[in-house]
Amino acid sequence: MVGKKHKTLGEFIIENQTSFQYSSGELSKLINAIRLAAKVVNHEVNKAGLVDILGAAGDTNIQGENQQKLDVMANDIFIQTLKNREIVCGIASEEEDDFITINSNDEQHQNKYVVLIDPLDGSSNIDVNVSVGTIFSIYRRVTPVGTPVKLKDFLQPGKNQVAAGYIVYGTSTMLVYTTGHGVNGFTLNPAIGTFYLSHPDMRFPETGKIYSVNEGNYIHFPQGVKDYIKYCQEEEDDRPYTSRYIGSLVSDFHRNMIKGGIYMYPKSSLASNGKLRLLYECNPMAFLAEQANGRASDGTTRIMEIKPTELHERAPFFCGSNKMVEKLEEFIDQQA
Ligand code: AHG
Ligand code: MN
Ligand code: MN
Repeated sequence: MVGKKHKTLGEFIIENQTSFQYSSGELSKLINAIRLAAKVVNHEVNKAGLVDILGAAGDTNIQGENQQKLDVMANDIFIQTLKNREIVCGIASEEEDDFITINSNDEQHQNKYVVLIDPLDGSSNIDVNVSVGTIFSIYRRVTPVGTPVKLKDFLQPGKNQVAAGYIVYGTSTMLVYTTGHGVNGFTLNPAIGTFYLSHPDMRFPETGKIYSVNEGNYIHFPQGVKDYIKYCQEEEDDRPYTSRYIGSLVSDFHRNMIKGGIYMYPKSSLASNGKLRLLYECNPMAFLAEQANGRASDGTTRIMEIKPTELHERAPFFCGSNKMVEKLEEFIDQQA
């Protein structure tokens, strides 16, 4: 990992910045702040089994879910880091009821980017030592620079994203991101606290053999999704496929991008828009997927075309290898 041919994330960010002729360096600084927060959260996640920070904090978030202590901690770390570095004009987080305006002085208002985060994804896996992640999404504000941010700065369709990425705190910790020029993955060397470019130009295989879905909800799924799951299980051509579901979107996505596969969180008779949040989960993962030659839809519509109306809204989500998502859409279409 420390060999000469491996670029560090810091070097990569600098190189990338100079390739954008008119870049002010603001986006580079922002990615740098995320890199720093990722290292701090990584440290906390790694020692989660050692100290008494496990278990529910006693609070519930706006979606009525039990908040784990590490969720709160990761949320605070990302928000504080972005605030301290004075690098964004607004932040929205899955763990906060409302968006945060950075407004302490006029200079800070000059920043043009807003960040949306899922600070800890897969939080039900914390207690059992299974991979969790962080997801981030960056937009240019639509209201004038120099004024307080408004809700409409956050309610932009995913296709407006300037950058998006995730950190997976797995067997090793990786930061994977895109600024709209492909997807690159960096692995943390924990001994020296440096991310190295380990996975340049990541791409979903055109098709794959893995399907990832919470099959416990099967009877509640729309008929088209049920039909597709049965198709995955049929003995024909390259099927049956393998079923793999970690329950951390970041980890399931990461594996599927490397090996080829499809992730599904459909709507159901229990949840009319599924579970995943459009702004904090679906959009950033959709941007990464498309930049990596994959596909992301809600079954009929491209995720990044959806016009959000609420900060915490949910959307059905199908994402992964191009051919597999297309096939799923065909099955849904047949039932329409
Ligand atoms: P979060 O921990 O941020 O609330 O997200 C959990 C999400 C996602 O990561 C995962 O794929 C999905 O919820 C799992 O949901 P089910 O337990 O319903 O399968
Ligand atoms: Mn999540
Ligand atoms: Mn979360």
